[in-house]
Amino acid sequence: MELKENFSLKKYNTFGVDAVAKYFVDFTTVESLKNILAETKNERKLILGGGSNILLTRNYDGVVMKNSIPGIDVVKEDETYIYLRAGAGVNWHAFVMYCVEKNLAGVENLSLIPGSVGASPMQNIGAYGVEVKDVFHELEALNVLENTVQKFINADCEFGYRESVFKKKYRSQFVILNVTFRLRKEPVFTTSYGAIREELEKMKVNELTIKAISDAVIAIRRSKLPDPALIGNAGSFFKNPVVSTETFSKLQHEYPLLPNFLSGENLRKIPAGWLIEQCGWKGYRKGDAGCYNKQALVLVNYGNANGDEIYKLSEEIKNSVKEKFGISLETEVNIK
Ligand code: EPU
Repeated sequence: MELKENFSLKKYNTFGVDAVAKYFVDFTTVESLKNILAETKNERKLILGGGSNILLTRNYDGVVMKNSIPGIDVVKEDETYIYLRAGAGVNWHAFVMYCVEKNLAGVENLSLIPGSVGASPMQNIGAYGVEVKDVFHELEALNVLENTVQKFINADCEFGYRESVFKKKYRSQFVILNVTFRLRKEPVFTTSYGAIREELEKMKVNELTIKAISDAVIAIRRSKLPDPALIGNAGSFFKNPVVSTETFSKLQHEYPLLPNFLSGENLRKIPAGWLIEQCGWKGYRKGDAGCYNKQALVLVNYGNANGDEIYKLSEEIKNSVKEKFGISLETEVNIK
């Protein structure tokens, strides 16, 4: 284990922000994780997965620990399912591709999401009608307060829209070590999302396959989301707000074209991208910080923006949405 000092995190966050960590260390086993924690007791800690859901607004005065626990293993199998356990450090898309190649169904709609396996249950990642909770079986995590490994089954995680216990009541208390997913041998396809159906038609797909859905999702994402390798970003910066049907009706009266989705009883989800676009931010750029021109929900770093500049832009956006629509946007990205 090697503690690096004054370490640039530019390559370790998909926003490409050049913040510096006092110490940085990569770990691949629970034993080395425990050792680092014991040896750096008095330092602040930040666990990093793929760095794809974080905005670093300042240097980090503590230890940044990159979770690189590897491995994908079959743990059990029954008539319907195969259970795959993946190390928290496995790249999420690599895991999805592994499943697609083996013709195992369940995560194909989640193709090309940046980040790591360990981060996926943290905020219950989701796209195109599927969320991680739909395929999640269990996970193991180190309780850093008690130094013990604990198991969490689906119900323990209290999954919600981009939410879990790890983001809320157990924030900073657990380090996810591995996640077991339940994949179907016979696919049940989710094509409810309009964009998927349109893309499959465009691709002239007659027979649905796991690979076809994955390819369609990849094509959709490439067409409207910036590739973090080329333009720094962390996907959706804000969550889509959920409002009561009453609030929705009032808004719809004023804005008849307001897009919306049912989101449980008496609740409507409104695309934050639409609200932001209506406030005139889409394609806006100030210095190297901007609002992406093909999807207003994504804030971008065109090169040398610092975290604070991106944060300030996000606050301006938030304030203008509040002023125009009376809706308070919540950030999806973790601000540090
Ligand atoms: N829209 C606009 N202008 C924009 C962007 C969106 O008007 O600039 C409106 C359109 O009406 C569009 C609707 O918003 O039909 C929905 O847009 P999109 O399908 O791009 O999805 P989203 O609601 O903006 C959510 C997730 C994405 C996920 C997609 C697909 C959140 C916060 N974001 O975005 O997740 O890929 O749905 O399921 O829920 C992420 O979390 O990082 C992420 C990219």
